[in-house]
This record gives sequence, structure tokens and C-alpha cells, in this order.
Amino acid sequence: MLNTSDTQLPPFDLVLFGGTGDLSLRKLLPALYFRHHEAQLPKQGRIIAVARSDLSRQQFIEKMEAAAQEHIKPEEFHRDTWGTFCERVNYLRVDITQQEDYEKLSEVLGDHPDRVRVFYLSTAPSLFKRICQGVNEAGLVSEKSRVALEKPLGRDLESALEINDELAEVFDEKQIYRIDHYLGKETVQNLMALRFGNALFEPLWRREHVRDIQITIAESLGLEGRAGYYDQIGALRDMVQNHLLQLLVILTMEPPISIDPDAIRDEKIKVLRALKPIAGKDVIKSTVRGQYKEGVLDGKSVVAYRNADGVPPSSSTETYVAIKAEIDSWRWKGVPFFLRTGKSMPEKRTEIIINFRSVPHSIFEMPDSTNRLIIRLQPEEIIKLQIFAKGRGDAMRLLPVNLDLDFNQAFKKRQMIAYERLLSDMIRGNQTLFNHRDEVAAAWKWIDPIIAGWEAEGGTPHQYAAGTWGPAAASALIARDGCVWAEENAHVE
Ligand code: BG6
Repeated sequence: MLNTSDTQLPPFDLVLFGGTGDLSLRKLLPALYFRHHEAQLPKQGRIIAVARSDLSRQQFIEKMEAAAQEHIKPEEFHRDTWGTFCERVNYLRVDITQQEDYEKLSEVLGDHPDRVRVFYLSTAPSLFKRICQGVNEAGLVSEKSRVALEKPLGRDLESALEINDELAEVFDEKQIYRIDHYLGKETVQNLMALRFGNALFEPLWRREHVRDIQITIAESLGLEGRAGYYDQIGALRDMVQNHLLQLLVILTMEPPISIDPDAIRDEKIKVLRALKPIAGKDVIKSTVRGQYKEGVLDGKSVVAYRNADGVPPSSSTETYVAIKAEIDSWRWKGVPFFLRTGKSMPEKRTEIIINFRSVPHSIFEMPDSTNRLIIRLQPEEIIKLQIFAKGRGDAMRLLPVNLDLDFNQAFKKRQMIAYERLLSDMIRGNQTLFNHRDEVAAAWKWIDPIIAGWEAEGGTPHQYAAGTWGPAAASALIARDGCVWAEENAHVE
């Protein structure tokens, strides 16, 4: 079950491989601090950061604190609870290729059969296999053990299956927590609440009433020093295979029979399997890949992707993707889903727009007759329902107005960061917000032919200026279905 209260977690040891890495310092440790501050961590809850750096425990704590000061808002950083949080944290230098280092880890962990033990692999996927073998050979894996993995899980179906098979040699599927941090976002969970906690929308949530759906994950950030990783991966693998597809699936799945993890994951897998394949010639017709060139963002000039540090000048890695997806099911047949994501776009915005069908015959003078549901997930959480009303004055002229809900105003409590939820759930043993191996496989199965199509085409991605909403070809893609992206639509606020 998804938890319904902030109950205390069971006793645990969390072993953080890649403990000095960016994710650990920027997100995981601050998330654990917040859970500690909210008194959710039990007395017997330890965090053991492990990494290659030769640091003492004290030096690690200093590093962790420097990062916390940078990533936790000053008003949310409480010196007293920070001090008690640090008491939970230990650091161990481990060379993961050396078996004797796992023995050292075993000594630090000691004998606590009652405790949940989570191995969090915040490392390159190429190290997963060795780490799993290492902890297993050191006798550290029991029924109470879990392993958590960061994306990317492979770079295609074949490599993902290989990783999953390697994990399965040591851990049972029920012990494997594959992370997509978008599922940890409260705003994404609210999508489920909106759909399955309200009877209002369900009758409309289908092809008879929905004309098209747009899902955008725009980022104003560029590479952030991650060229080495990003240039090998590109936007399709980095964002579409996981985050964008997860949003699509939650938005379109059938109502699950319960909130049970298997019930939800079964429905999600069905949608992934019903995605209409995009292969061969259709790839060029249904997808657009882009790469940003120099431009201006927030008044500052941005260098072209190809001129960024660490990127080869001839790189054809995409920093933007737009796709027209379709779902072959009774509910969704024929409805176009326009998915897009990009780096160096004008603003950070994650947004879903559901355009409903127009009135069949309009008796009024009105500029447009599409009701829209706009669900903004980031940076702020807002839901707007765009309806039409008569404007003030003599004329019977209809204008769009919004029914607005701003979650920040509705709920005063601090919004949890995604990893708070995910870390709590893995300690609690709840897999609802983690991907099953079949989900990962189904997603790659849909993505692989797109990559193959691009490779067969050769050439380079369409260029778009940094600070703009992407290449013109993406507007042409959606225009073929008579649609426009939200920012080009005068009726969308
Ligand atoms: C990560 C990607 O998974 O998600 C990054 O690797 C991207 O490239 C990030 O910037 C976006 O996450 P968020 O939570 O900032 O929307």
C-alpha cells in the first residue's frame, strides 16, 4: 500500500554506494536529513556512505555539511537536528573491486538480523554486477535486504535485460527497487489522486472526449558539467525512456483494482505494451530530434551544445526530442500524445495539457472552443481547468477563463523532495513507486526502434537556439494533426 501517514520507519542500515557522488550529496543525504528532522527515522537507523575516496568519517561529515548548506534552504536547515542526523552517518572507504573491502563493510554493519538493509547503488551501471556479487559473497544479503538502483538501466533492451539478469542472480524481484525519481514527486502522485480519487474526470478520460494530450518536460539547464555522461546518452534515453513515459503511463492507465503495488504496476505495464511501435520510416514522421545551438537564456549567452566542455564538436547527440505517440487500446485509439523534452529551453516546466474535443456546434461567438485541463507539475504545482464564459458587456461573446487550484496555497506543508518518499518507501518495503523489470523492458522495446531509425537516417539533429522552445520541425510535427504547442497557443495561459 502507498503509505497514508508519516509513520516511523523500521530499524535499518542504508549503505550508500557512490556516497561522495553528486546525487548522494545533493539529493539523498538532504532527503534523509528531512526525514530525520520530521522524526521519521527510528533510533536504530544508520547511514553508511561508501566510496573510493580516502576520507575520515569527520572529513565526510564536513563534505556532507558543505553540500547541505548549498542545497537545503537556510530556513529548513536546523542546526540541532542536523547535529543528531550526523550521528547516524558513517563513512567507509571501499574499493568495490576488492573483496576484502566488503568484509570491512560487514564488520561495520555487524550482526543485526532484525534490521532492514538497503544497498543503494548510486554508481555507474557497469559496477552494479560487481557490487551485488561483493555483498553477496560477504554474506551481507538476507531476506531483509534490498537493492536500489539509479537510472540509466542499460542503454537498450538487451543491456537492460542483462543488468536485470545479473541482479536476479543475487536478489529476488521483490527486493529490487528500480528508481525513477519522477515517481517520488508528490506532484506525480497527485496525478493518480486526481484520476482515481475523483469521479468527475473518469468519464471524460478517453478518446470520445479527448482530442490530444501534450506532455512537456522542459529544462532551462544545459549540461551542468555532465557532458561525459550526457553525450553518450542523449535526451531520448535520459528523459523519454523513463520520466516522460512514466507520466504518460500514469495519465493513461486503466484504474487499478487497488493501491497494491502489483495492481498498479500491472496496469502501467499494459499501457507500455500498448504503445504503438514507431519504427522504420515512421520514425522520421513521428519524431523530431534537436540539439541546441548558441542562444540567450535569462539574459545570459549560452554556448552551443557542441562547443560545451567535454562535447565533441561533431556530436550528433540530441538535447531535445518531440514524439507523436499513440496507444492502441479501446480507451485511447487515435488520440495523439505529443511528448517533448529539451535542455536549454526558456524555463523549467513540466506540464500536461489535455485538450478536450470542441463543442460539436457552436452557437456563440468564441475564439476557440477547446476546454483544457492544464496540470503543471513543476516548478509550481497548479491545476487549471479552462472553461468558457460570457465576458462582461453587451455582446454574447465567450472568453476562456480558468478554474485554478494552486497546491501551495491549498496545502501549507512543505512539499517533500522526491527522494524523501522513495527512500522511506524502500526502507518500508513498498515497491509501488519503483519500476518492475517488465516495465523497464517494455519501455526499451518501444524506444529501441526509434534509436535504430535515427541511426539509419544518419544526419544530425535539427538545431534550435538555446533559450527557445525547440526546433521548428517540432511545430510542424504537431501541426500535421491540427495542433499547436501550448506556448504558441494564444488561448493557453
Ligand atoms: C534526470 C536526468 O534523470 O532528471 C537529468 O538525468 C535531468 O538530465 C533531471 O536534468 C530532471 O529532473 P528534475 O527533477 O529536475 O525534473
